[in-house]
Amino acid sequence: MLKNRVILPENRYKEIWDIYIILITLFTAIEVPLRLAFSYTTGTSIFQIEVLISISFAFDIIMNFHMAYKSGTGYITSKSKIASRYLRGWFTMDLLATIPFFLFTGVLAAEGAHSLRILRLFQLNRIIKLLGIARFTKNWERHHSLNPSMYRLIFFIIFISLAAHWIACGWMLLGGVSDFSGTLFETYTWALYWAITTLTTVGYGDVTPTTVGQQYYTMMVMIAGVGTYGYVIGNVASFLANMDLVKAGYRKKMEEITAFLNYRSVPPELQQRVHEYYEHLWESRLGHDEESVLNDIPNPLKTDLALYMRQDLIKKVPFFAEGSESLLRDLVMALRPRVYLPGAYIIRKGDMGTCMYIISTGTVEVVSEDEKKIYATLNEGTFVGEMALVLEQPRTANVRTREYCDLYILEKEDFDDVLKNHPSFAKFIRKVTNERLKEYKKRH
Ligand code: CMP
Repeated sequence: MLKNRVILPENRYKEIWDIYIILITLFTAIEVPLRLAFSYTTGTSIFQIEVLISISFAFDIIMNFHMAYKSGTGYITSKSKIASRYLRGWFTMDLLATIPFFLFTGVLAAEGAHSLRILRLFQLNRIIKLLGIARFTKNWERHHSLNPSMYRLIFFIIFISLAAHWIACGWMLLGGVSDFSGTLFETYTWALYWAITTLTTVGYGDVTPTTVGQQYYTMMVMIAGVGTYGYVIGNVASFLANMDLVKAGYRKKMEEITAFLNYRSVPPELQQRVHEYYEHLWESRLGHDEESVLNDIPNPLKTDLALYMRQDLIKKVPFFAEGSESLLRDLVMALRPRVYLPGAYIIRKGDMGTCMYIISTGTVEVVSEDEKKIYATLNEGTFVGEMALVLEQPRTANVRTREYCDLYILEKEDFDDVLKNHPSFAKFIRKVTNERLKEYKKRH
């Protein structure tokens, strides 16, 4: 994972480190405003934590000078490039967050000078580090394929909670809750209660401003509250809708179909069968329009994606599994998925053949024209309908499905191309065709 003595973004230790930095940043984002609001005398443990945080942030800066970054398809590992990028970007913020203002202002404020209270606000410098959190998590999103909506929702909840906390701390700084002398926890709870009732535009009015400063503060929070309210409602609705776009699309499609079937007064039994078909499509994961997604993507990436999506099929079909990489790539791009209902005829004897079928799931039967005799039963991983293409003659039998079948179609044109370019595959197909032809001749 270490290349040219730089760290690659997918390094596991780096991920653990990032989580640690995020946790201590969140800790300071919660603790420092509280400390300022209550002016509590900071004991040695807080002092030690502050020192530890400064050391950790400083170490993080050193790490960032050694962090390779992604550019195009590769990583930039040149140290000078990494440094200039970091210096132009997050470096200043990271440095500001690292300065241990606590060491100076903590001492000064302890002397009791009132005018120095403002200086203590410098301790909020740690919170700047929060701005940079998104850059850590971008990497995880890429490497762990997190659902982007889920991830945005988590961030959103953390951000809104922190904002309410900060607003409550600000309220206490400006004079706290009047006529109230409870414990620190109780005072804080009242302030948080005020912040949330104001932010959500509920405003019961049981906690009200008593000083001019608090009045202005309340007005600002009220205005921010209107904006936040709209933002929260809008975002929550879109999070829920986007949580699983593919499933949402499926549900919408089902609703449209049900509405259409009702409109055309289709009998319930027939409606049931249509629904069953769509359920099968969804469960077999063929429901999503694979081709329209693939067609949007440029070539070698498209082939890689098609290979991935059809890997189940590739594992099942012996001539795929044993075939060369180039055969796989040629074939996989030419295949088109189709779902057939139980008892459907996919091939009729005597028709001209335009394609062959590879069976991904399900069973098909090769039957006589009068449907009385079953010549063969073919399962997943095999193929059917190749004879008409190889021998350039009409179809030799009827073929029907026994259950729901997921088949992949290979058109004649593509079939001919693949046969021409891959002689060993052509030999294999011809061998199977000849065996089937022998049986066909025996039958007639
Ligand atoms: P085709 O002639 O194009 O259409 C009917 C298909 O049934 C045929 O190709 C073969 O793929 C398949 N078929 C015919 N006879 C047999 C058999 N004896 N065993 C397996 N498959 C067969």
